[in-house]
Amino acid sequence: MMKWRTKITDLHAYVPGKTIDEVKKQYRLDSIVKLASNENPFGYSPKVDEALKNFQPAFTRYPDGHALQLRQKMAAHLGVDPTELIFTNGTDELIQIVSRSLLEPGKNTVMAAPTFSQYKHNAIIEGAEVREVPLKDGRHDLEAMLGQIDENTAVVWICSPNNPTGTYTTEQELTAFLDRVPEDVLVFIDEAYSEYVVAKDYEQALTLFRRYHHLIVSRTFSKIYGLAGLRVGYGIADRTIIQKLEPVRPPFNTNVLGQLAAQAALEDQTFIQSCRDKNRQGLERFYAFCRRNSLAFYPSQANFILIDFQCDSEEVCRFLLGRGYIVRSGEALGMPGTVRVTIGSEEQNRGVLEAIGAFLESRK
Ligand SMILES: Cc1ncc(COP(=O)(O)O)c(C=O)c1O
Repeated sequence: MMKWRTKITDLHAYVPGKTIDEVKKQYRLDSIVKLASNENPFGYSPKVDEALKNFQPAFTRYPDGHALQLRQKMAAHLGVDPTELIFTNGTDELIQIVSRSLLEPGKNTVMAAPTFSQYKHNAIIEGAEVREVPLKDGRHDLEAMLGQIDENTAVVWICSPNNPTGTYTTEQELTAFLDRVPEDVLVFIDEAYSEYVVAKDYEQALTLFRRYHHLIVSRTFSKIYGLAGLRVGYGIADRTIIQKLEPVRPPFNTNVLGQLAAQAALEDQTFIQSCRDKNRQGLERFYAFCRRNSLAFYPSQANFILIDFQCDSEEVCRFLLGRGYIVRSGEALGMPGTVRVTIGSEEQNRGVLEAIGAFLESRK
């Protein structure tokens, strides 16, 4: 018998949304639209293609472990110092690095429920106690989260906008919270969807890390930048925090192509703006549909919407799959009865809403 750590024996591997090919085969459909993983339906900036075309293949060499060029571009873009950044293999790896650095048996970590699954997953692997605080009206209940913090709390996770509800924490709520979290507790603010936000009272936590040294903000190239397959994420924090995390980071964690593509993507903010605008138009279309059909939903600041069907989520997903749309069942996300749909292109939105309409019709 192998000597597996007891903490991992009950863990399940992450189950990603079904792939397009799987669904095509299973349902014998020619065309499939995947609206399950909050990817960018508009792809990525043409500047990325250009950069990759001009790339001289040099795969025998290790990538720059320090991601110097990307680091400098990002620092200039954000107006931070290069030493205030850490680059990772997606946000997933930053969550892993932070967990590995701070969590262990005897410590605890506080998070919302439901929220992005990887905070809890990594905490369990590290053997820390997980303290989950139910969302209140789909939003982080910061007061109750504060109540869960004690002298053994090492990390608190805030996902804003939150996956799977799309809700956000306002600047005022966040600063009031940060004022009260002890300085020896790291607050991890996951801003994977921040570039989609249009709410005026949302403050990217980026502007706060100078004021609060117990804060790390995570961002990613997987969402609005459209580069999920290349795995580039990053963290922004006071350099004392970055210096602690760096030795835990695998030395060559972001690859050559990812670094190159991320730099090119960063340069094209016009593309980002247009994705943000189109996403907002798409969301409005979903809102109007839900209101017309008396379906409850959470107003979203992200590129997805959580709709409450008040019936078996799996049934909705199966129906939509049969019509060629892959969406995410709220059952798996800790919100039974709901379905999370990624906002697609105009045509995809029209199509999936038509299919949802047919589902509602079929239940009359
Ligand atoms: C809130 C949140 N954080 C992080 C991630 C993972 O992002 P990455 O692709 O950068 O690992 C996701 C992906 O869905 C997410 O929803």
